[in-house]
Amino acid sequence: MKVIAFNGSARKDGNTALLLNTVLAELATEGIETEIYHLAGKQIPGCIACFQCFKNKDKRCAAGKDKDIVNECVAKMVEADGILLGSPTYFADVSAGMKALIERAGMVSRANGDLYKRKVGAGVVAVRRAGAYHVLSSLNAFFLIGQMIVPGSSYWNIAVGREPGEVAHDAEGMKTMRDLGQNMAWLLNKIL
Ligand SMILES: Cc1cc2nc3c(=O)[nH]c(=O)nc-3n(C[C@H](O)[C@H](O)[C@H](O)COP(=O)(O)O)c2cc1C
Repeated sequence: MKVIAFNGSARKDGNTALLLNTVLAELATEGIETEIYHLAGKQIPGCIACFQCFKNKDKRCAAGKDKDIVNECVAKMVEADGILLGSPTYFADVSAGMKALIERAGMVSRANGDLYKRKVGAGVVAVRRAGAYHVLSSLNAFFLIGQMIVPGSSYWNIAVGREPGEVAHDAEGMKTMRDLGQNMAWLLNKIL
């Protein structure tokens, strides 16, 4: 069993990474293999609406011709049993990198009969002050339209902090991440 986490922050070792790693640590405790993939420093243009993926049906995004990381990310999603998407709050929404990944990995999925169907998916969000619930909603939209199964936690999957590492001081946010990891592990162990 494997869970792949994507960190949509422009900061590789910031708050979003810390939150994702907290969820992954719980999964690892339950014997689930984990991997974190950082979008920081990678150029990911958004979907260009060529709809070539619907013609090719080869589980790949035709745009970019493998010059960017999207097809690598799609392959990781296909291989995994669970997918975590983590994003900081940028102007009350997901980061641009995460949005581009959602658009393109999401469209490739739809073009190929819902590639991530019945995999377990969850989003986590770092926020300084406001807009995080909207970010979580954007992440959940990816899972829910793809026929994925979304576990809950003891609060919405949000933690508060500004400078890298600050979310560690948000005790309730950190507990929410640990509970999410335990619920995700429980669910994976039930269905697989
Ligand atoms: C471009 C940009 C936009 C941001 N917009 C918001 C915002 O709308 N609301 C908010 O509370 N924090 C906002 N922040 C702060 C980040 O969400 C916050 O610092 C978060 O912890 C960053 O996570 P990271 O360390 O993983 O990058 C913004 C930060 C940046 C760089």
